[in-house]
Amino acid sequence: MKHLLLICLFYTLFEAGLSAEKSPCVQITYTRTNNVGFRCTQLTTLQKYLDQARANTTIITIFDSNISNVPGHSFARFGATLMTLDLHESGIQTCDAQAFVGLTKLKKLMLWGNKLTFVPGDWFVYMYSLQTLDLSFNFIQGIDYTIFQMLPNLENFYFDYNQLRYIDYNMFAYLGNLKRVKFSKNPWSWPYRARLTWQLENQKVDAPDVWEDWNWMNVVIKDCVESGRGELPSDKVLDCAVEKLLTFAYETSSAQERSSTAGCNEQARKLVRCMRPMSTNATGDTDYETVRRILEDYSTILPPMGIALSPFPLKR
Ligand SMILES: *[C@@H]1O[C@H](CO)[C@@H](O)[C@H](O)[C@H]1NC(C)=O
Ligand SMILES: *[C@@H]1O[C@H](CO)[C@@H](O)[C@H](O)[C@H]1NC(C)=O
Ligand SMILES: *[C@@H]1O[C@H](CO)[C@@H](O)[C@H](O)[C@H]1NC(C)=O
Repeated sequence: MKHLLLICLFYTLFEAGLSAEKSPCVQITYTRTNNVGFRCTQLTTLQKYLDQARANTTIITIFDSNISNVPGHSFARFGATLMTLDLHESGIQTCDAQAFVGLTKLKKLMLWGNKLTFVPGDWFVYMYSLQTLDLSFNFIQGIDYTIFQMLPNLENFYFDYNQLRYIDYNMFAYLGNLKRVKFSKNPWSWPYRARLTWQLENQKVDAPDVWEDWNWMNVVIKDCVESGRGELPSDKVLDCAVEKLLTFAYETSSAQERSSTAGCNEQARKLVRCMRPMSTNATGDTDYETVRRILEDYSTILPPMGIALSPFPLKR
């Protein structure tokens, strides 16, 4: 009897594993949610294994793999049911134009941690159910702006940790259901970063990681534009921001010098020491060119200056 039970158990396990013991893929049945999953790791090709997945699969997860290209029509067979396609950390460099064709029910497309350099519009034709698009941790330098009009239901859009310098911030207005965006850790050109921040702010989109490194700068730039000191992307705006930074650094340092006990924020002190020789009167004329160059490389100066957040309002 015990023996029989073992055979039964073995058979069940074997069937769950579907094919040969060596398959890098497993079927997963989520009885509670009624989902049918298919999960693989260590793949070097897609097609061979996807054939093992049931036609009514709702979740496909492939990770820790080395698939340089996703061929056209790879997932079309699952079009009627597939809701989540998670291809993270799979070494993907390119996806054919028709790679995701037919995925009209897809709600989540996870492509984080790959080697993508461009996001073409072709991928998203008829993918109008999509709610979450995760492109974080790639090498993306450009996004086809047509995707903004193709994804009316997009709620979560993540493209932090990429190589984006510019983006058409106006296009975000097409994403009427957008709730959450991650865009930090890209080498943004400063006016674009600032404008994207405001655009998302206007749309009441939650962009949480903005605060960590550039928020202070955004507030100052906004302040400068709104007080008529220039229009983006004019350097006049940045000059204005530099001026505010200098003034602030000055005020902070003298306040701290007056106090005998307070330990001066090391970064602020360094910054003031850097700036001081250039300007004995921070509000007067200064060699803003030099300062601006320093400031444009904000990532080295501003993030540790948490103290710099204090004199300006965080949210308006
Ligand atoms: C999916 O298809 C299999 C047969 O291939 C069936 O046994 C299973 O019940 C189906 N699951 C759902 C959730 O429809
Ligand atoms: C991935 O596969 C390519 C060949 O397709 C190979 O050159 C490369 O070394 C592999 N990378 C890893 C991390 O296995
Ligand atoms: C700083 O420069 C401005 C404009 O040149 C001048 O009006 C002001 O008096 C100066 N302040 C100090 C403390 O020198």
